Amino acid sequence: MIRSVLIGTGSALPARRVSNAELAAQVDTTDEWIVERTGIRFRHIAGEGETTATLARDAALAALSAAGVTAQDIDLIVLATATPDNTFPATATKVQAMLGIDDCVAFDVAAVCSGFLYAVQVADSMLRSGVQRRALVIGAETFSRILDWEDRTTCVLFGDGAGAIVLEARDTPDDATDARARGILATRLHADGRHNELLYVDGGPSTTGTVGKLRMKGREVFRHAVVNLAAVMEEALAAAGLPTDAVDWVVPHQANARILDATARKLSLPAEKVVMTVDRHANTSAASVPLALDQAVRDGRVVAGQIVVLEAMGGGFTWGAAVLRI
Ligand code: UT7
Repeated sequence: MIRSVLIGTGSALPARRVSNAELAAQVDTTDEWIVERTGIRFRHIAGEGETTATLARDAALAALSAAGVTAQDIDLIVLATATPDNTFPATATKVQAMLGIDDCVAFDVAAVCSGFLYAVQVADSMLRSGVQRRALVIGAETFSRILDWEDRTTCVLFGDGAGAIVLEARDTPDDATDARARGILATRLHADGRHNELLYVDGGPSTTGTVGKLRMKGREVFRHAVVNLAAVMEEALAAAGLPTDAVDWVVPHQANARILDATARKLSLPAEKVVMTVDRHANTSAASVPLALDQAVRDGRVVAGQIVVLEAMGGGFTWGAAVLRI
């Protein structure tokens, strides 16, 4: 059967790295509070000339190079973001132009922190349909530009960055337990719009005509996150026909180290199998999963043949998981 096989990963971070101590000089917070409650020590913040599109382009170039393909080999770009360069056109089309791709399908997906999981399922469906053959799936964000820098309950939590993967349609054995069955084995997505007001941006083109700032009731989001993430991972593994102990790595959305620990405990997954980058990147929304995946591939932890589970939860609420064999 046709599956979407991961053939390359890449990521990009803004040049400027900001420590907790630097933030404590601006808002009423401390390094101790941030580390103890979230595990975050640093985040990267976009500077002049750095935008969601430029970070996405750099992550895409790294992924193309890792995959050993050229930009012209790409016929689909799905870019997940809640912080596009402009209200329109889609940032994906800006990235297409920056990469010099004459023609392809290119659009954005908006599902906030779960955006990359949504983008993966959309791209996977299009590749398996046989119409497209090779996709760049990107998560890219500049949340620093929608933060209220006077609100200590949110501004310390987020960072900027981008991650990208290249997926290629390939014929693979039907049986997902066959070690040659590489690629995306199952995906599961959910949304529950009743929770809009727990995590949202207080502006937009059709309401205020402004960009707005991020607002979050963190404690409530936390409570939902652990329950939903554990459930959707179990659901995706069941859909792939794999037991939890077949999992080599979980690459979670990096919102809070305590969420990662609690979710792993709920599934009886050892903490050593969970890729953690929240300490260095903070929460980069749709970029966090592909950023963490790329780091784990580049430092040699995630290797060919392994079973990897990607998961995320965010504003909406939206949440999802994907199971793949590398
Ligand atoms: O990516 C989308 C998904 N988002 C998430 O998953 C975020 C989920 N939520 C969280 O990660 C956590 O709830 C937070 C990190 C946001 C907050 O941690 P918490 O342990 O739930 O703290 P809290 O909101 O209950 O606040 C505890 C105290 C409060 O003071 P009082 O009311 O107890 O006096 C806050 O005002 O900590 C205070 N506080 C701070 N203190 C120092 C809140 N932010 C800060 C801060 N520095 N930056």
